[in-house]
Amino acid sequence: MNVLLTGGAGYIASHTLIELYAAGHTALVVDNLSNSNPESLKRVAKIIGIDSIPFIEGDVRDRALMTKVFDGNKIDAVIHFAGLKAVGESVQKPLEYYENNMNSTFVLVDVMRKHGCKNLIFSSSATVYGDPAQIPITESCPKGHCTNPYGQTKSMLEEVLMDVHKADPEWNIVLLRYFNPIGAHKSGLIGENPNGIPNNLMPYITQVAVGKLKELGIFGNDYPTPDGTGVRDFIHVVDLGRAHVAALGCIEKKQGLKIYNIGTGTGYSVLDIVNAFQKVNGIKVPYSFKPRRPGDIATCYCDPTLAYKELGWKAQYGIEDMCRDSWNWQKNNPNGYDK
Ligand code: NAD
Ligand code: UD1
Repeated sequence: MNVLLTGGAGYIASHTLIELYAAGHTALVVDNLSNSNPESLKRVAKIIGIDSIPFIEGDVRDRALMTKVFDGNKIDAVIHFAGLKAVGESVQKPLEYYENNMNSTFVLVDVMRKHGCKNLIFSSSATVYGDPAQIPITESCPKGHCTNPYGQTKSMLEEVLMDVHKADPEWNIVLLRYFNPIGAHKSGLIGENPNGIPNNLMPYITQVAVGKLKELGIFGNDYPTPDGTGVRDFIHVVDLGRAHVAALGCIEKKQGLKIYNIGTGTGYSVLDIVNAFQKVNGIKVPYSFKPRRPGDIATCYCDPTLAYKELGWKAQYGIEDMCRDSWNWQKNNPNGYDK
């Protein structure tokens, strides 16, 4: 298939590109570079062994541009990664988050249908479960209350896409609910490249390890978890990339609307991650305990059985791979893609 990746220069998309090409697909990217660097695409091309990844710099909300993209290319399916994703920032800038994430999806889906392309994979998130009603979380677990605008956009867009499918069953739509992606491609050439001080755990750890930040603050050690720190379902970004290839299989079989949890099914605590990182990489990560972070939940991990049963996908990498590969990327690129 020839696949359009919106937000294709970003963290998850760049890893997905490699897996798509490895499976025999081709791709093109639209990205406005609001949270990415085109260097990622150069490095992806190098890893794949091709001259370049077809890239159009622009905004998915730009209807004229998207129409041109679809007029000029035969696109079989779209993976819609584009979106703003920083939870804290979304609380400060709700309008920007709602405007970007909702409108980009509205424009994309409308232009797609006008061009008869009705195959879509959407980047959703475990955040739609809110404080989950059950652990491990299955796809039948009810959606919960999202405490921030970012989460709201994911949850609302899921509803929008379900309605699109209901109105026109010709659509094949796969909602992938990612758990906590970390890690990097084993080459160390691409990885997560957050702007400013990281909000998420692993980039914070790697920036402490590389000496850019002094110490990790662990938000809460009084949760009802085995060691008191939060428990999450960390998943290697390469496994996540492979999940998109598997979801394309589902699209090829024209299965309508599908929803999958994409995680490993194993919960690790913040301290488990810190300890594994120190052990695998032989490097100290100073930390201290801080109060709980508002909006955090104690435990979040999934039951990924459905993705295995229906897509034949399951995670291959473990916590040690994730910690090793995250560090390999950070130590080789202390400033990310910036020189
Ligand atoms: P990322 O910021 O690295 O990638 C998103 C990309 O979209 C960026 O390259 C950005 O420049 C681009 N973009 C944003 N708005 C755009 C627009 N209007 N037009 C064109 N390009 C635009 O983030 P990521 O971690 O790779 O996440 C990819 C997707 O997965 C996002 O939708 C995110 O919300 C979702 N997701 C991420 C996580 C995570 O932990 N990283 C978890 C669950 C879901
Ligand atoms: C966060 C978002 C979630 C989003 C996901 C995607 C919040 C409340 N939730 O999930 O909506 O879908 O990212 O990436 O922001 N931690 C520390 N110290 C740190 C950073 C994190 O102790 O400096 C802890 C957190 O308290 C949490 C765990 O590490 O227990 C994981 O945090 P993080 O990586 O931010 O992911 P989530 O909070 O699970």
